[in-house]
Amino acid sequence: MKTLLQINSSLYAGDGQSSGLANRFVDLWRAANPGATVLLRDLAREPVPHLDAQRFGAFLAKEDVRDAAQKEVVAYSDLLIGELRRADLIVLGLPMYNFGVPSMLKAYFDHVARAGVTFRYTENGPVGLLGGKRAVVFAARGGIYAGTPADSQTGYVRAFLRFLGIEDVEFVYAEGLAIGEPSKQAALAQAHSAIGRLFDAQRLAA
Ligand SMILES: Cc1cc2nc3c(=O)[nH]c(=O)nc-3n(C[C@H](O)[C@H](O)[C@H](O)COP(=O)(O)O)c2cc1C
Repeated sequence: MKTLLQINSSLYAGDGQSSGLANRFVDLWRAANPGATVLLRDLAREPVPHLDAQRFGAFLAKEDVRDAAQKEVVAYSDLLIGELRRADLIVLGLPMYNFGVPSMLKAYFDHVARAGVTFRYTENGPVGLLGGKRAVVFAARGGIYAGTPADSQTGYVRAFLRFLGIEDVEFVYAEGLAIGEPSKQAALAQAHSAIGRLFDAQRLAA
């Protein structure tokens, strides 16, 4: 049975524009995949702690010498990774905050990038261990950046997912949300059309 993992990273949790677009997509996917499982990881409701030396030390410590606190840190990271591993399709709500990805999402990324678990180093460079998955990213922005060098998010998120082995990544943008009401409505309508096209193409429905 198929599994979709939705990751919301808006500080407004389910009320963010990026979450709203992700929700719309997930509703359509659920209708097209009766009986499939949808997991929700909302990073505003359950924030992932910042990665510090203590937490990273827990990742590096060998299993048989980890103390209780380190075991807890690793178990939490394993839980997040387990959701990713289980998912066939990852749906990411991606707001732009202060020219970058939300710090909550960065903290999440820092907890799922684990050497020997989600990627490994080889003579030819790092190899991702979470292959065979697809991802759809819903990027909400106050301004307009897509396709310009000022878009700090698209390349970064693609590179991070590729690092884990997730190569098949689609972006849907809702931009200009802060420019004015007409611009906002046009951007949201355009994003909804893009969601419809994803399903019309039957690429993500089946
Ligand atoms: C703290 C904060 C910082 C923001 N920084 C930017 C920015 O750097 N560039 C931009 O285009 N929009 C910026 N915005 C506008 C958001 O991208 C926009 O509100 C978008 O809808 C956020 O997604 P969300 O509604 O899912 O949270 C910012 C909004 C907030 C709340």
